[in-house]
Amino acid sequence: MASKSVALITMSTRGTRVGPSVSSFVEKIIEKPLTSAGFTIANVDLVKFNLPVYNEPVAPAMVPDKAQFKYEHSRAWSAEIKKHDGYVLVIPEYNYSVAGGTKNAIDYLMNEWKGKPVAIVSYGTRGGTSASEQVKGALSGMGLRVAETRPALAFNQPDIFTAIGGKLGDATLKAWEAEQTANVAKAAEDLKDLLMQPNTPANALRP
Ligand SMILES: Cc1cc2nc3c(=O)[nH]c(=O)nc-3n(C[C@H](O)[C@H](O)[C@H](O)COP(=O)(O)O)c2cc1C
Repeated sequence: MASKSVALITMSTRGTRVGPSVSSFVEKIIEKPLTSAGFTIANVDLVKFNLPVYNEPVAPAMVPDKAQFKYEHSRAWSAEIKKHDGYVLVIPEYNYSVAGGTKNAIDYLMNEWKGKPVAIVSYGTRGGTSASEQVKGALSGMGLRVAETRPALAFNQPDIFTAIGGKLGDATLKAWEAEQTANVAKAAEDLKDLLMQPNTPANALRP
């Protein structure tokens, strides 16, 4: 049997962004627990899909049984998400809430990942806990199984502007290594447990 694939998805989409560095910090921690259990990790970067604000004439819940996507950008994003068995979403927080680009990308999907497990890692000046809570609500409602541990990575105060400029400051990285490694590893363990259970949609609010 082919090994199960976990997509580590960088969900920020600014031209200058710190998201890929945050994903790289996360990957270093989750790599061993997941690969040693036989899972593979695929790096996925949302920005490469260049998604416009949702513009399909159909609802994602209708795809693929009752309708097909009209646009290539939707088909590409849908196909990418469909091919993985589990996900780690690395999400920024903007203005006390989920970033528009993150929510827009989620809105393109439904059956591609319904029932599958996902871990959420947020980051921001306060760790992105509001965005994490909102994304958890959206994904649970869509029937994904959300890992209980949701690490929230807060930038060290002097590094906030460094992050906006696209660089993860050294003080922040050191603090995360010391204080957040165990939490990110716990999220990977949660995800691993969920990956071993059947893909039964949890709390699905939609048919
Ligand atoms: C439009 C905007 C709004 C922001 N609002 C918040 C916020 O409400 N909470 C927070 O923790 N960080 C906030 N930040 C700071 C971001 O966490 C920081 O810029 C980070 O680098 C964003 O991730 P990115 O570089 O991957 O886009 C905001 C940044 C931007 C650009």
